[in-house]
Amino acid sequence: MKNNPFSKANDIVIKRRKNPKGEYAHLNTTELLDAVKKSAHSTHRADLDILLEIFLDRYNARQDELDQLNKELEQRIKTEVQKSKTYHKRYEQQAKMAAMGEMMDAVAHQWKQPLNALSMMGDLLVSDYESGDLTLESLKEMREDMQAQIDHMVTTLSEFRNFFRPKEKNETFGIKRSSQSVTLLVKDEFLKNNINIKILPDYELLIYGNENEFKHLVLNIINNAKDAFNERNVENREITIDFMKDDKCTYLEIKDNAGGIPEKIIRDIFKPEVTTKPEGKGTGIGLYMSTQIAQKLGGVLSVRNGDNGAIFQLKIPLPL
Ligand SMILES: Nc1ncnc2c1ncn2[C@@H]1O[C@H](COP(=O)(O)OP(=O)(O)O)[C@@H](O)[C@H]1O
Ligand SMILES: [Mg+2]
Repeated sequence: MKNNPFSKANDIVIKRRKNPKGEYAHLNTTELLDAVKKSAHSTHRADLDILLEIFLDRYNARQDELDQLNKELEQRIKTEVQKSKTYHKRYEQQAKMAAMGEMMDAVAHQWKQPLNALSMMGDLLVSDYESGDLTLESLKEMREDMQAQIDHMVTTLSEFRNFFRPKEKNETFGIKRSSQSVTLLVKDEFLKNNINIKILPDYELLIYGNENEFKHLVLNIINNAKDAFNERNVENREITIDFMKDDKCTYLEIKDNAGGIPEKIIRDIFKPEVTTKPEGKGTGIGLYMSTQIAQKLGGVLSVRNGDNGAIFQLKIPLPL
C-alpha cells in the first residue's frame, strides 16, 4: 500500500509548471510513455492530462494523415484504372490499325490480278477491233470475263468492309465459315508467299460471340505464321486450322510448320508490346489483342510448340 503512488494522492502537492506542454512536445512516443510513468510517481501528476492531450493531438494528427493518405490512394487507384483503360483503348486502336494495314495489303494483292486482267482485256478489245476480229459474240464474251473480274474485286471489298464495320453485337456463327472468310481474304497474299492454308474439318461448329473479332484473332495468328515463314525462309509452308468439340469445350487449333516460338519469349508473347520483329514491322499487339478477344468469347488462348512449329489453341467452355 505504502508504495502505491495513487493511494497517497491526497498527500501530494500538485504543482503546475509554467510550460509543461512545450517541455513534452518534442518527445517521441516512448519518451512520452516514460514521462507518463514518471509523472505518475512524481509531484507533477497533473502533467498526466497534459500528456494525454499530447497523445490525443498526435493521434488526431496521425488520423488526419491517414485519412489524407487514403484519399490520395483512392485518387491514385482511380487515376491508374483510368490510365489502364486508356492504354487498353490505345492498344486496341493500334491493333486495329495494324490489322487494317495488313488487310489493305491483302486487298491490294487480291486486286492486282483482276486489275491486270481488266487492263489486258481493254488492250485486247482495241487490237481485236483494229484487226477486224471483233464480233458481237467475242465482245459479249469479253464483257462476261470482265464482269467476273469485277465481281471478284467487289467480293474482296465487301469482305473487307464487313471486317472493319464495327459490329458490336454478338451472334452465333460457324467457325468453319468464319475461318474460310478470313482465308479467302488473304488468299492471294498467302499464295504469293507460298503458304498453303488448310481448314481440316468437313463439319461446321457454332460458337457465340462477335464474329468480326473472331476473324481478327484468326487473322492475327495466321499473319504471325506468315511472318515466321518469311523470317526463316521455310520451305513447304503450311498452316492448318482444325476445330473440335468434346462434352466440355469447343477447341480451335491453328498450327504452322515455321519452327515454333522462340523459347525465351514463349511465356510473354501474349503480353502487349512483346515482339521479335524490327520497328515498323512488329507492334507486339496482335497476340495481346487476340487474348482479349478470346476472353470476350468466354475462352482462353494458349500456345505450345509442336514438332515443327507453333500450335495456338482457343478453348471455349460450352455453355452450361
Ligand atoms: N507462329 C509463330 N511462329 C513463331 N513465332 C511467333 C508465331 N506467332 C507469334 N510469334 C512470336 O510472337 C511475337 C508476338 O506476336 P504479336 O503479338 O502478333 O506481335 P508482332 O506480330 O507485332 O510481333 C512475334 O514477334 C513472334 O516473335
Ligand atoms: Mg502479329
